[in-house]
Amino acid sequence: MDVFKDIAALRAARADMRGRVGLVPTMGYLHDGHMALVAAARAHCDHVLASIFVNPRQFGEAADLAAYPRDVERDMALLQDAGVDALFLPGVEAMYPAGAETVVTVPSLSDRLMGALRPGHFEGVATVVCKLFNITRPDVAYFGEKDYQQLLVIRRMAADLDTGVEVVGLPTVRDADGLALSSRNVRLSPSQRQPALVLNRALDAAAEATERGAPVDDIREAAAQLLATEPQADAPGIDVQDAATLSDLKGRPNAPVVILLTARFGDVLLIDQRVATPPTA
Ligand code: PAF
Repeated sequence: MDVFKDIAALRAARADMRGRVGLVPTMGYLHDGHMALVAAARAHCDHVLASIFVNPRQFGEAADLAAYPRDVERDMALLQDAGVDALFLPGVEAMYPAGAETVVTVPSLSDRLMGALRPGHFEGVATVVCKLFNITRPDVAYFGEKDYQQLLVIRRMAADLDTGVEVVGLPTVRDADGLALSSRNVRLSPSQRQPALVLNRALDAAAEATERGAPVDDIREAAAQLLATEPQADAPGIDVQDAATLSDLKGRPNAPVVILLTARFGDVLLIDQRVATPPTA
């Protein structure tokens, strides 16, 4: 696997690649969810590029950025074993040289839900992913459905800016106990891990309510009841939105919905999501 820190060198290597090129953008500290994206890219593309860049522009607080886990050596070994052809590993100065000020915003999908809690977050994501698309020129790029709002923002950006990149979303990968894999899980203490499983159980309950044709308030209530059973699930957030547009819903949904949950376990904010289809859809 070739490793490039420099944009010009990466571009030169990319220019020599023939056939379908797949990109897996990451912030590192890789887990099986990332590796499922790499495996899909490997299965469907002639060349696989991965990137590791902890993007400062998508972190609100410096403390959050500093606390983000990193293990580049281990990540490189995993990517190499998975058959990645080239890794883009830029520094902050390469991605945001002095004077860089252009941003990419997808307003209607970014300002709500997680975006309302973390102002500027999705602008940071859309901007860096647009830059990664421009630098690596992939035919297809792979993202996890776990970050559902992020996936919709990136899809919209890719289409609106005529990037020509196909954006593929892959299902959330879970541990055997049901916890959605996330680089943040490592920050859960052993006594927080079991309580965190309530998120998946709450999604099961809300999805079941959706599939039997319940109105949106009852779907939300099904998740709320489960989350209320876990005292360590702090400040839980429950949103049931249209799965295609993230718009608010009233009454009985007649198209797929996405159930988006957030909760803090100590100082670790976890998110999880599920798409569910009502019987009338
Ligand atoms: O999901 C992530 O790891 C990041 O948000 C992404 C898409 C690599 C952009 O920095």
